[in-house]
Order: sequence, then C-alpha cells, then structure tokens
Amino acid sequence: MDKERIILSKSETPQKWYNVMAEFPGELPPPIHPGTKKPLGPADLAPIFPMDLIMQEMTPDKWVEIPDDVLDVLKIWRPTPLVRAVHLEKALKTNARIYYKNESISPAGSHKLNTAIAQAYYNKKAGVKRICTETGAGQWGSSLAFACQHFGMKCTVYMVKVSYFQKPYRKSLMRVWDAEVFASPSKNTSYGRKILAQDPDNQGSLGLAISEAVEDAASHDDAKYSLGSVLNHVILHQSVISLETKKQLEIAGEKPDVLIGCVGGGTNFAGFVSAFVPDKLKGQNIRMIAVEPAACPTLTKGPYEYDFGDTAQLTPMLKMYTLGHDFMPPGIHAGGLRYHGMSPIVSFLVKKGLVEAQSTLQKATFEAGILFSKTEGILPAPESAHAIKVAIDEAKKNKGNCIVFNLSGHGHFDLTSYDNFLDGKLEDFEYPEELAKQALKNVPKVE
Ligand SMILES: Cc1ncc(COP(=O)(O)O)c(C=O)c1O
Repeated sequence: MDKERIILSKSETPQKWYNVMAEFPGELPPPIHPGTKKPLGPADLAPIFPMDLIMQEMTPDKWVEIPDDVLDVLKIWRPTPLVRAVHLEKALKTNARIYYKNESISPAGSHKLNTAIAQAYYNKKAGVKRICTETGAGQWGSSLAFACQHFGMKCTVYMVKVSYFQKPYRKSLMRVWDAEVFASPSKNTSYGRKILAQDPDNQGSLGLAISEAVEDAASHDDAKYSLGSVLNHVILHQSVISLETKKQLEIAGEKPDVLIGCVGGGTNFAGFVSAFVPDKLKGQNIRMIAVEPAACPTLTKGPYEYDFGDTAQLTPMLKMYTLGHDFMPPGIHAGGLRYHGMSPIVSFLVKKGLVEAQSTLQKATFEAGILFSKTEGILPAPESAHAIKVAIDEAKKNKGNCIVFNLSGHGHFDLTSYDNFLDGKLEDFEYPEELAKQALKNVPKVE
C-alpha cells in the first residue's frame, strides 16, 4: 500500500451522506421568515427548492442514503485521492507531515460538483425544467451546468460581473455544457435593471447575483433556484469529502492534528471536517481551521447575527457571521470567497469553539499557491490557496504533526489572476474593523 497516495476503489465511495448537525440535536438556530419573523417551515421554501432538498435541509437524521443515480455520476471521479505533499514538505524543510485531499479532479475542477449532481437529480425528480443560480468564481456555475445537462435540464447562471471578465473561460465551459450565462447585475431581472440604473458600472457581488437568480426562479413556474454553498443540504452533500478522508488517513496510519480548509460560504470546509467532529467531541485533539481572505473577514471580524443571504432581502434570514447583506467586497481574485455571510453550520461550530478562524492576505496567499504548484505540480484555485497558506504556516512551526488540508479546486481558469500576481499588480486589502462593526447597523432585528 502506497502511504503517500491513498486511493480508494470506486466501491468504497460513501453510500450515505453524514449530517454533522445530528450531533447537536435542536441546537442550530432555525432560518427565519423575513415577513413573519417566525422559523421557516418546509412550505415556505417550496417555491424555490424541490421538497426532497427542503427535507434534507431540515433533517435531524445522522445518515441520508445517496441515490444510485447520484452515486453513478459521482463515481466518474470519486473517491478522490489523499496525497502526502512530500515535495512541499522538502521545500519547507519541515518535520510535519502534510496531506491534501484532492477535490480538484472533478470534471468541473472542484468540490462543487458533489452537490451539483445531487441538487440536479432531486430537481429532475420533482419535474423541474430549468435551474437558476449565481456563481462567483465560476466553479459552481460550471458544476451546475454539467449536472443539469447530465439530467436533461436547462441551466441559467448569473455570474458576478467582476468574475465574468476575470475568468472568461469559466463562462465558455458553462456554455459548452449548455448553460446560459449573464453577467450580474444583468438586464434579465427587475432587480438587476434597478441596480444598473443606479450604477451602470456596478461590478456585482454574490449577494446581488443570488437576488437575480432567486427572482428568476420565483417568477417562472417551471424553474427552481439552486445554491452552491451556505445551506445545510449542500454541506450534507459535501460530507463525502471527510468520510473518504477519514478512511484514507486510517489506511495511512495517521491521526490528523490539524484540518484546514478555505471558507467562502463554508461548504468545502464543513464537508471536509464534519466526519471528524465526533472524534473532537470525544476529546481527540484536532484543530480545525477555517481560512478566509482578510478582504472579506466574515468569521474573523463579522458579528454572529441573523441576516439575509442576499442583497435584495429575498432570502430567509440565517443566523450566521456576516458583514451585512449589502456588503460590496473588493474585487479580490478569490471570487468564491467574496460572500458577506457564512453557512449557519460553520458559524455554529465557530461559535461553539470547535472550529477556529484565520484570515490571509491576497499576495501571501498567491505565493503559497505558487509554491504548492512548483512542488506538487497542481495549480490551485486562489480560493484553495488560502488553505495552503495556513497549512504552510502550520508546517513551519516544525511540530512533527499531521496537517491535512482540502484542495477544493484547481486554478486552470484563474490564470489572469496568476498573471496579475506575477506582474506585481495585486494589492493587499484588509477590511477595516470599523466597517465590519457598521454591518451591525444593517442587519435586521430579530428577537
Ligand atoms: C475552488 C473553490 N473553493 C472554495 C470555494 C468557496 O465555497 P465554499 O466555502 O462553499 O466551499 C469556492 C467557491 O466558489 C471555490 O470555487
């Protein structure tokens, strides 16, 4: 058995998803209806999501069966390898053992396809003809495009304008997989038109693109909305990452000391750590570090409050760390990490002290990504490079420990960003504490 590259067979692909919230029954603050200010029931979500996904969002069950039709597609690339980064270790002259879980090998290039396949499947089963969504980095949009064409549905993607121009080939990939793609804010929705009338040069944000996609879905009977991050059912679908990682570390004879992942809405991180949470609750000493950009420091500087998931206040209110739903992030090059909020589950785990949060600056993050690429040969997505930066920082402490990070995606469509870094054009930006405090003024009041 090769202890430096642990590959599971296709038959070892997890058959069930694991729901980490089953460890904390009744403790997760529920989503709140923006009108009634009361906890949401399944019927409130029915206009935008199919019922199977709504039930998964609220399930108290610890295990949820993965349908055969979903497994069949997941097995195109799953299980993903767990690899020991021996060349990176050598370059760092560290006595730490560094491993990475390689989620970049999916057809779309990231972990996002794990949930896209499941969401497309349940929408198809419910008779939906078209799915609307937003995308930041383009990883999610291309994943959903792949999943929709697989199940014979149309896909409409609102892509944050700054990414639409930074990553034109992500858009091409979505079109190859039959999706229609709009730069958001767009003229396709009344909310997009309103924003463009006020500010024709608006560069967009994830919160704004979500508003457009939700409006599109809610105003067409045959369409539903799909979210690639934040929500409980998305984290459920991503649990395959930690279920496999746990098995692979056992094969390697390792117990992890530190688990690291980047956080945008929180789902690759939660999916990567969730199966280890019971070990931590039993007293195993595992640090779990969620890494975000200093330019969008939701966990490290935001308050833990109820807030809307989108700019237009169309979504339910979620209890989460937030920079305010009208936060306009700077145009940093990790488009997938520019979200104002954080998944309620990750927020809950941070609040409980089970997960710690750190932020990194943009230039040091790209440097870490390039060192990883030079040593291990994979160009990481700028989002994933946040996890690499902190893994390197931890390895430099030379504690002889086992550090595992999630390589959430590759950066083959992020070359403009890498060019900008190499040409010295990237700026560091740290979101000021004062502005984060001001977010409190904009979040809705919930008793
Ligand atoms: C490669 C990659 N990693 C991470 C993220 C962040 O999302 P999440 O925190 O939900 O995993 C994104 C989002 O677009 C992404 O594309």
